[in-house]
Amino acid sequence: MKLQRPIGTYDLIPEETALWAALESRVRAMFHAYHYGEIRTPIFEYTELFARGVGESSDIVSKEMYTFLDRGERSLTLRPEGTAGVVRAYIENGLAQKTPGAVKLWYFAPMFRYERKQKGRYRQHVQYGCEVFGSDGPDIDLEILLMLHQFYTSLGLTELNLKLNSVGTPECRPAYREKLVAYVTPFVDELCEDCRRRLEVNPMRMFDCKNETCQRILHEAPKLIDHLDDDSRGHFERLREGLDEYGVPYQIDPHLVRGLDYYTKTAFEMSYAPLGSQGVLMGGGRYDGLVSQLGGPETPGIGFGAGMERLILILNETGKTIQTGDALDLFLVCMGDRANRKSNEILLNLRADKICCERDFTGKSMRKQFQAADKLGARFVLMLGDDEIDRKKLVLKNLKDGTQAEFDWTPDLSQLKSAIRDNGV
Ligand code: HAM
Repeated sequence: MKLQRPIGTYDLIPEETALWAALESRVRAMFHAYHYGEIRTPIFEYTELFARGVGESSDIVSKEMYTFLDRGERSLTLRPEGTAGVVRAYIENGLAQKTPGAVKLWYFAPMFRYERKQKGRYRQHVQYGCEVFGSDGPDIDLEILLMLHQFYTSLGLTELNLKLNSVGTPECRPAYREKLVAYVTPFVDELCEDCRRRLEVNPMRMFDCKNETCQRILHEAPKLIDHLDDDSRGHFERLREGLDEYGVPYQIDPHLVRGLDYYTKTAFEMSYAPLGSQGVLMGGGRYDGLVSQLGGPETPGIGFGAGMERLILILNETGKTIQTGDALDLFLVCMGDRANRKSNEILLNLRADKICCERDFTGKSMRKQFQAADKLGARFVLMLGDDEIDRKKLVLKNLKDGTQAEFDWTPDLSQLKSAIRDNGV
């Protein structure tokens, strides 16, 4: 059998990793500016955490988890999403006591879901996201949406569609649920099998269904947003006022319920419409009951998760380029044995100053070394042979415009370094 990567996974080769690293550092800088601390939790957790946290009726738990027994017969699951593990870690590490005010955490981590392979959908994908504990909002809801708007705008993504909804509180849902069930029940025979199950277990989940008949039936269904309690309605109105005040465009989508069971009040998703369902860049919302449900004290929470692969897909689709910062500054062309031995004296010095350098290790002729430098996209070539060593001079050639200049070979190589930095010879 030919060895291949598992279905729904991908390799990142260096030119792709460079873009990932550049984006990861933008994500890191964003979270730093908003004063989030980074959290790293295990890639696997006890299965029960997701069953209780994400919810048995969600597609993620019922169909998509990678669950296995370890050698001690414990059921473990590769994390399908970030929130449940972060909530567990927040409780287990007593973070509420260690931090004054709201606890703001961010992550950049792989997630695993057994999903159908599709463009932009993987069985291992990476999410950058955050979770905030201890603030019942809506100021923090607003700050998160402002942060995301600022971030995507800074990447040149202005055509994004922010969808917003309120899914209310557990207090206002039973009355709404009754209305929804009463409306849908006459159509039960037309519903897909999943929705018939959802109608029994968690009727609001039906709004997630992609089946056209189900969507048509639900189109006219009563909307939770019209049945909110005063608290949820006030929260939602204040959030909307904030978004309006700061010029963040959004659309209210009363059918946005999100695929996870823990949400309360604010729910949101941002997408790049031309890509349809693969264009969903991020999703999140408030989960005021989750910490207590997982064994902690009553604590409000809110967060989002955003797919890295989706971000890259959308950047590619929209033709946006991101500076990756992995360019090769200099290729040292060595001519002869003496030069070869001397080369480390120069390379160590330049590299200590974070100048990215390369040389040949395969015995290439001088002409071939120049070709390699060109192919690797080096900005400069530094030539080193007997003549340079005897005269204590270094010759730097700019490969972009062909100009060249000679520098004194001083112990600190200061003139040479300035020329490389200032991009001039
Ligand atoms: P989610 O909507 O399931 O939310 O996933 C968040 C984002 O991850 C999606 O919007 C999408 O960009 C990306 N994503 C999800 N599944 C895949 C996949 N199979 N392949 C590629 N990308 C994918 C959550 O996971 C929640 N934990 C978000 C959250 C955090 N809510 C509150 N806090």
